[in-house]
Amino acid sequence: MWVFAFAQLPGSPTVNTRTDGYGGSREARVRLPLEVFSAVRSAVSKRFAVGCRFLAEECIDGGSSVQDAVWYATQFAGAGMDFLSVSRGGKFDDAKQPKVGEAAYPYTGRSGYECMPSYYSDAVGPFGRNLPPSKLMRAAIRAAGHSTPLVTAGGIHNFDQAEAVLASDQADVVGFARQALADPDWFIKVLSGRGAEVRLCLYTNYCETLDQRHREVTCELWDREGLEQAGVTRSADGKRRLLAPDWS
Ligand SMILES: Cc1cc2nc3c(=O)[nH]c(=O)nc-3n(C[C@H](O)[C@H](O)[C@H](O)COP(=O)(O)O)c2cc1C
Ligand code: SF4
Repeated sequence: MWVFAFAQLPGSPTVNTRTDGYGGSREARVRLPLEVFSAVRSAVSKRFAVGCRFLAEECIDGGSSVQDAVWYATQFAGAGMDFLSVSRGGKFDDAKQPKVGEAAYPYTGRSGYECMPSYYSDAVGPFGRNLPPSKLMRAAIRAAGHSTPLVTAGGIHNFDQAEAVLASDQADVVGFARQALADPDWFIKVLSGRGAEVRLCLYTNYCETLDQRHREVTCELWDREGLEQAGVTRSADGKRRLLAPDWS
């Protein structure tokens, strides 16, 4: 599988004002991902699934809207992509000013919150904020006659929630990042009827802070556990384990 992620382009006409044929109108803005797809598709084996991850909404002032994303989705599906994966926000445009010598990090502004909502939330809450746009995009893809699967993500962490997403046609595949980090054995636990033993993500974004500081990404729920055991691989500073403890 090959997935290319476009969080900065195609964008909106206000934000993407390039004058080199890749900015301005929708048709121009969508050119880059379509050209990348075409080049990748022709370079890799037919056995490779090639898809694109892009934003349902940029979540910045003047940024691309759900309507833009719905249109991009139909263009990508029409071009023959094998799957579409939907994220949201996470833009450099509204990232906090970094300290001198540090790089800007795209998950520090409002759009960053929309991408990786933490437990500290607003009235909508941190779970499933990307589902309404995902549903609209999937419906548009189907209405255009394509069966391209749509992957959604964002605050999804338990089986019933994921099942409800699929049953209500909000997506064809449910992805999660932080819950998979919190418990890499989620899948086997749920599959074997031991879902009650899942180590649930707290949505504290401790992992995201480590990423922001360019340190090895681990989860606070397990990275100090059993450090004294023999053979535990540790982070560069020696304070954290890099792999979750074994579960069986
Ligand atoms: C530490 C960390 C780093 C991430 N880096 C990326 C990235 O490089 N590209 C990307 O598209 N999404 C990235 N994400 C976002 C996730 O793919 C996902 O869309 C987001 O965390 C919401 O899903 P979740 O609630 O299941 O974590 C990252 C998430 C985390 C926690
Ligand atoms: S550190 Fe662990 S519990 Fe906290 S948000 Fe990341 S994965 Fe979830």
